[in-house]
Amino acid sequence: MSALNEQARAILQDNDRGGFTVPTGSLYPFQWNWDSAFTALGFATFDPDRAWLEIETLLDAQWEDGFVPHIIFHGDDQDYFPGPKVWGTNRRPATSGITQPPVAASVVRQLYHAEGPAAEARLRRVFPKLVAWHRWFRRVRDPLNKGLVMIVHPWESGRDNSPEWDAPANAVPTEGAGTYERRDVHVVDSAMRPTKQQYDQYLALVAFGREAGWRHEEIAATSPFQVFDVGCTMILLRAERDLHALAVSLGEEDVATEIEVRISLAQAGIGHLWDEAVGAYCSRDLRTGNTSGMVTSASFLAFYAGVGSDQQRERLLEHLQRIDAAAKYLVPSLDPQHAEFDAPRYWRGPVWAVVNYMLARGFAECGLEEWSDRLKSDTRQLIELTGFHEAYCPLTGQPTGGDTFTWTAAMWLAWAGQLDDV
Ligand code: GLC
Repeated sequence: MSALNEQARAILQDNDRGGFTVPTGSLYPFQWNWDSAFTALGFATFDPDRAWLEIETLLDAQWEDGFVPHIIFHGDDQDYFPGPKVWGTNRRPATSGITQPPVAASVVRQLYHAEGPAAEARLRRVFPKLVAWHRWFRRVRDPLNKGLVMIVHPWESGRDNSPEWDAPANAVPTEGAGTYERRDVHVVDSAMRPTKQQYDQYLALVAFGREAGWRHEEIAATSPFQVFDVGCTMILLRAERDLHALAVSLGEEDVATEIEVRISLAQAGIGHLWDEAVGAYCSRDLRTGNTSGMVTSASFLAFYAGVGSDQQRERLLEHLQRIDAAAKYLVPSLDPQHAEFDAPRYWRGPVWAVVNYMLARGFAECGLEEWSDRLKSDTRQLIELTGFHEAYCPLTGQPTGGDTFTWTAAMWLAWAGQLDDV
């Protein structure tokens, strides 16, 4: 086994807190929703039982309405902010009140596919929870009835400080943020983290949800931040296709039919996120009707979601070629030629292994093997250069954010470090 394989396993094991894995001990000491899903793919390469457990622990924190939280605070940690008291959801275990990209069903399909019927009992345990979560998105977060995903907090996108959220977040009143002390900037260089203004907006939105008693319907209807996120929308559509395949395997015909209806709706509705002037899928603010007009790494998830006409796909690939010429490593989280591009700052420039993984799968499935191989080899090189970091500068390959990062290690084990297929 190569040294990097060993290191990657050791990171997963060291960050394992018993049933759940922390993204990285110093910066994120709890369980994060989509991190756990990607982490399960890493565990699946050497401990399938532990992989299922990661997903089970995540879904055990599901609320009665189907919602699955973005953080599960299995304990307290004075060094983390905003912690359970700030969220004030009053749950056991304590959780945040917002969600994250629903990649779990896609991961579960892969776990089941790898093991086959032997894993059926475990699949049956999580399946109804995944169904309930997907129904929650449709019921609570699809106000235009188009199969899209509206987010009510930038953190729900998983792309926390993407410039796609700047204009909508600047309209959020920040008085509610109060005074607070950030912890993240003690652990990581502040040039790599969101700004104070953004943090005020984040905290004001947390206060808004807390004051609304985390009643999700009410928040969706009245939040000062209501944006259709291209990333969550694409990821959910893909997850619906995977959940559909699972429903068919389990002989759950009624659920399969229900999901088919939602898939058709989303396939027809996704055009709402196409910005013809830009030639890309972009997030769109529900309150103003404006798209961000930005080409982000999430724009290319169209291939992973299986959407877009031939012409739209060609336009997306033209952007990718242009971005390739401007960056050393693909895929930067924002178009390097955009004025807001900021090479080391989190989701405003850096390359993220988990995003590359989804993009590469999408390219491979659409017959674009060259792009798929390219993303795999770029991700591999970035990890070989400096190890398992949170993200990487697309211009130099320098690491950004936290280190010994779980999901990056998981992506090495499940994908970038493997010499064969995606
Ligand atoms: C940051 C990332 C988010 C991730 C979390 C834990 O908030 O933006 O996507 O889930 O860290 O790694």
